[in-house]
Amino acid sequence: MKLEEYQQLDETYLVQNYGTRLPIAFVRGEGMYLYDSEGRRYLDFLAGIAVVTLGHSHPKLVAALTDQVGSLIHSSNYFLIGPQAELGKRLVELSGLDRAFFCNSGAEANEVLIKVARRWAAQHWGEGVRPVVITCDNSFHGRTLATLTATAQAKVQKGFAPLMPGFKYIPFNDLEAAGEAVTDDVCAFLVEPVQGEGGINVATDAFLQGLRDLCDERGLLLLLDEVQCGAGRTGTFFAYEQYHLKPDAVALAKGLGGGVPIGAMVCTQDLAEVLQPGSHGTTFGGNFLACRAGVTVVDTIREERLLENCRAIGAYLTQQLEALCDRNPRCAGVRGRGLMIALDLTEEIAAKARDAAAERGLIVNALRPDTLRLVPPLTVQPEHVDEAVRILDAAVSAA
Ligand SMILES: Cc1ncc(COP(=O)(O)O)c(C=O)c1O
Repeated sequence: MKLEEYQQLDETYLVQNYGTRLPIAFVRGEGMYLYDSEGRRYLDFLAGIAVVTLGHSHPKLVAALTDQVGSLIHSSNYFLIGPQAELGKRLVELSGLDRAFFCNSGAEANEVLIKVARRWAAQHWGEGVRPVVITCDNSFHGRTLATLTATAQAKVQKGFAPLMPGFKYIPFNDLEAAGEAVTDDVCAFLVEPVQGEGGINVATDAFLQGLRDLCDERGLLLLLDEVQCGAGRTGTFFAYEQYHLKPDAVALAKGLGGGVPIGAMVCTQDLAEVLQPGSHGTTFGGNFLACRAGVTVVDTIREERLLENCRAIGAYLTQQLEALCDRNPRCAGVRGRGLMIALDLTEEIAAKARDAAAERGLIVNALRPDTLRLVPPLTVQPEHVDEAVRILDAAVSAA
């Protein structure tokens, strides 16, 4: 099919909720590159929004999924599921927590965190006595009714009133505000260690460690949303490892399946016990295909030393972007951790720069009107960084 046909089908039959769909139809991916219907090649520094951890069509993932598709895709949670238990074991060992639960997306993983927090609070203080979860301005936790309420961004909530009761917002990285927000109806904080959709904002050590201490002192839960910053993206498997603390529960999704939809909650034994039979579940969550993908992603991250690569190439990319800011007057600054990086521009030209980059064979996204996001696969190499920065330089100048 040619590009015009894809476009016509999309415009005729699909809900037009994705305003920024570019007129590019990818048909194939290999490593760091995507190929479109017209045979053009693109260097992928978006990775399906921080999802394609191992790059496209990684031979180990292709082999594992091919094998799994040929033997069993789905049976349901009425039965034992080998890859689900295998992935649970790996996530428990990596997290230092006790048990895992699997679902299908980031929003669903955060729903579980919120449900667990409420049910835990109900058991401690009585049903509905302390249901409030505190989240941060500019956070992003998902699009379900509970998670869009948790998401402290007016544009995400607009038109969906009444919002879910039981949420309260504080400025990100403001520990004093956090302390003041703890009234006697609060049971938990829900925080991204590195805010993704909100602009790649890194939590300070003082903030996250201070929240841990505050939660310990006041008997509250610290819930972390690592849907975007987890699964190795910041250079450790969990971003919270770099803060030398443990949450009570953490949400994963995006990068965990390397492109196959999956979500997960990993939590303490105490919280796991809250979800008794009948309290929560999902048809697809933790199925053979998704968990086989997850196991392969986790094992390949270890086998190919991708956390080390993420740290090294992340540092190199940051350095090269800082040098770009020195020589290109439209580039204002760099922010991020590991391979989760934002490039700020001096003007609101991010969408134009994104389009100009795509025309030159580089995929990035416009996170804000004046910010580009770079979240390449963790397999990225220095030569890809050089190519990306060269294209970005030209694209930003042309925007
Ligand atoms: C931090 C964070 N939490 C939750 C979500 C929602 O995940 P999903 O789109 O898989 O529902 C996202 C998606 O961008 C995210 O970045």
